[in-house]
Order: sequence, then C-alpha cells, then structure tokens
Amino acid sequence: MEGEVQKGLEGVIIDESEISRVFGEEGKLLLRGYEINDIAENADYPETLYLVWNGELPTEEEYEKFAGDMAERREIPPEVMDSLRNYAEANLHPMDAMMAATVNLSGYDENIDPNAPQTFEDSIDEVREAGKNIAAKLPTITAAYNRLRDGDEPVEPREDMDTGENFLYMLQDEEPPELFSDLMETAFQIHMDHGTNASTFTARVVASTMANPYEATSSAMGALAGPLHGAANQDTLNMLREIDASDKDVGEWIDDTIDEGGVVYGYGHRVYQTKDPRAFILQDYAEDIIDSEYGDDKWYKLAKEVEAHMDAKGLEEKGIAPNVDFFSGTIYQQMDIPTDIYTNLFTVSRVGGWVGHMVEQYSDNRIIRPRAQYTGPVDLEWTPMD
Ligand code: MLT
Repeated sequence: MEGEVQKGLEGVIIDESEISRVFGEEGKLLLRGYEINDIAENADYPETLYLVWNGELPTEEEYEKFAGDMAERREIPPEVMDSLRNYAEANLHPMDAMMAATVNLSGYDENIDPNAPQTFEDSIDEVREAGKNIAAKLPTITAAYNRLRDGDEPVEPREDMDTGENFLYMLQDEEPPELFSDLMETAFQIHMDHGTNASTFTARVVASTMANPYEATSSAMGALAGPLHGAANQDTLNMLREIDASDKDVGEWIDDTIDEGGVVYGYGHRVYQTKDPRAFILQDYAEDIIDSEYGDDKWYKLAKEVEAHMDAKGLEEKGIAPNVDFFSGTIYQQMDIPTDIYTNLFTVSRVGGWVGHMVEQYSDNRIIRPRAQYTGPVDLEWTPMD
C-alpha cells in the first residue's frame, strides 16, 4: 500500500448542518431550505449572507441595515494594504496573500482579545461581527492585491455599488457592464455553502478549538486553495487552454487523459450524481454573454465540446457530470478576470458558509472535535537498536 492514496477510508462522520442540503441524485442544492436557483434569481449577496447566518430572510428594514453595514466595512486598514504590497513583492499566490491578510485583519478588530477567556456562547457575537468584517473586506483584498502585483495602485471601494459591481470596479478601475455585475453578484451567492467539505470541515474544526474567526476562515482558505477543491475553477480553464494548444482534438485529449489516469478538472463531484445545479446557473450567464456585445465565447464553447464528448462516453450515467467549477472559469475569463484569482472569488462567497457553520456550532453546540482511534500494534517490548 506504500505511496498509494487510500480512497474511501472512513474518516469523520459529520451530522449535516442545517445550512445547506445537497441532493446528489437530483442535482439540487438548498440553502436554508431555499433552492439555489431561487436565491440566485431573487436575492443578492448580503441577503444570501443574512439568510445563511440567521436561517431566515431579512425584512426590508433588516436588509437595509445589514447591507449598509456590510458596504461600510469594505475599506481595509492601511497597514493591511501595506502587507499586501509586501506579499505582491514576494509574488505570493493570491490565495496565500488572502489567507495572510485575513489573519492580519484580526489585529484591527477590537472585539478580538486573544487573552480573554471565552465560551462558545460568548463568542457568537464576535463571530458574527468578525464574519461581517471578513466577508466585506475579501473583495477589496482580492482586487487590491491583483492591482498591486500588476504595479497599479488599489481602487477605493464604493458603498453605492452592490458587492459584485464594486468588486469588478475595484479590480478594473471602471464601472462594469450590468450583465457582468449581475453575474459576479450571483457567483458570490451560489458558492456560499455546500454542506460539509474539506474547507468547511477545516473552518469548523479550527473554530471548535475557540480559535478566532480570522484564524478559522484563514485555515479554511488553505483547504479551499487545493486543486481538488476550490482551485478546480482555475485549473479547469488551464486545462481548456492545454486542450486548445494541443495538436489533439478534444476527444483524443480527453480519452488520453482519462486512460493515463489524469484529471478532467471541473468534472465529477463527491455528492452530485448529475450536473451541479450551480453549473446550470452559470451557463445561463455564459449564454447571455455570448448573445451580448462582450461575447468572446471561445473557452465556453470549448467547455461545451468537452461536455459533449464526456456525455458521449456515457459518463453522466455513471454519475460523472460538470460541477460548478467547470464553467465558472470560462465566464470569469470573458470578464477579463485573471485566472489565478478565481479561487479568491470562490472564497468571497464561501466565507459566508464558513461563518454560518461557526455560528451554528457555537449556538447549537454541534462542535466537531476529531478524535484519532489508534489501531496499530500494542504492548511491544522496546528492543533498542543494535
Ligand atoms: C463545493 O461547493 O464546496 C464543492 O462543490 C465541493 C464540495 O462540496 O465538496
């Protein structure tokens, strides 16, 4: 078994959270009981955050207060901006810069007192306040870091724009087309939670030790940064570029990759047995972009060719279908968003889920504390080396 990856090793059984329910067979995702499609169509990012964190939709008054509070928190401390300049000098991957900047933010949150004795119950308000800070500031951190490493100065966030619009404005220093703003807002909503997976498990386990929300979310970012989790969106686009540059046709490239045990990024899912409902939502936007004046459909068209070949191989019947990462990169690319910040965009959304899980476990005492079970040899006689 040396060096072989042991799959299916039963690890941690987690009682499902009440935040999202994933129906693998039907390809359905509910956030607090609402279908992801309805959320994408009828809510915006702050409203989805409020729903995930509180378990119910806000009233008009609650929404105005919450969304206004989030918009006011978009600025980041100048000292954190200076740290981002140093990370850009070091050419850190954007996910690593975001992880470091997130922990850096904790130094400017007066609710965080590392020396204060805490209980889970007492920490719920700290988690909520820190969660708002982190969720409000991650778009600013992502946009600023991208500009700094390109040698450009960051663009100040605006409070009069929705989250998606403001992100694109800070990234590209111009007011984005409405279609792109709507797409970005929806992308920030539909990635928000997805039951227990590597990054959410990480957030919950780290939070279960009473580590503060900055430490727990930064740790979860480390898990999400992996190519077998959140980075699949950037790796899918890089895979499409490889196919495009190859002298093989799409089918040949895919068949050879599968025969060689390679990965077709963006395909398959540990729960969905059919196409990820979030993939359909993004595809609708891709079709809208193609029909618009902005439509450079090259990468989306290539993704559709890959999907057609995979379907022809009967993989959907085997439960292998496109997941959310399969199309997201092709659409971000059409909005001129650099490939290596796609997982940062995933994080802007997923931090909402992580904070929701932390509030849930602190409130309901659903603490996940893994415990190792020793199954090795017992009672060995110590025989010193000769
Ligand atoms: C996610 O949304 O986190 C991905 O679909 C991966 C997963 O849920 O395991």
